[in-house]
Amino acid sequence: MLRMKIGQGAGMAGSVITVAQQKGGSGKTTLSANLAVGMRRLGKTVALIDTDPQGSLGRWFMTRLELAPEEVEGMEFATSSAWGITYECRKLADRYDLVIIDTPPKADSDLRPALRIANLVIVPVSMSHLDLWATESVLDLAHRESREALMVLNRTRPGTRLSAEITEAAQKMHARIATAQFANRVGYAEAFGHGLSAAEGRKTPARDEVEALSTEVAQILANG
Ligand SMILES: Nc1ncnc2c1ncn2[C@@H]1O[C@H](COP(=O)(O)OP(=O)(O)O)[C@@H](O)[C@H]1O
Ligand SMILES: [Mg+2]
Repeated sequence: MLRMKIGQGAGMAGSVITVAQQKGGSGKTTLSANLAVGMRRLGKTVALIDTDPQGSLGRWFMTRLELAPEEVEGMEFATSSAWGITYECRKLADRYDLVIIDTPPKADSDLRPALRIANLVIVPVSMSHLDLWATESVLDLAHRESREALMVLNRTRPGTRLSAEITEAAQKMHARIATAQFANRVGYAEAFGHGLSAAEGRKTPARDEVEALSTEVAQILANG
């Protein structure tokens, strides 16, 4: 397995995570929001940047601001164009422990600046062969920018043959694969609509998953 050292971005105080995947609907925005809250709960301040014109993450953040304003403390949200990301990200990384960049479903040259500035690229992979096929191009781009990528299996359905097949195929790809996964749970969609993370509220399996992923990612950022 290819492993690269995860350095701090030049002159930036905080770490940067870019969430990318060519396949739409793979869970980029869901993962971005949940990881933001999960990291916040670990005590880190978090800025989110949405570069997807669709603006779902912004919608989530504004809903949160409206319904749970106290839960926005230590968080910030900004939008950016693909080419403006370097400037926007540097500004926020000076003030926040972590910057999470959500991106549109593309894997082309537009994505490069967001990959280049990242300490870690997270690639959600939902349980379909389409997702898996789309993953290679993002991993390639990350590799070309010498960034380490972490695949996170999403919408898993334990016990199904499809989940087993996708998991096995993902393990053969040239990137680290997170131990933590998000199963297919309505709780994720429900929480998102209320500006929340599945990590908030009752103790549920989804909350455990978000906490596990956040802890794992925090460890990777700290130790490489
Ligand atoms: N683990 C999950 N369980 C159930 N639904 C999910 C899960 N992850 C994402 N979804 C749903 O899948 C859809 C696409 O997710 P989204 O995060 O918007 O993907 P992307 O940003 O990659 O396009 C949304 O309706 C979202 O609620
Ligand atoms: Mg999205």
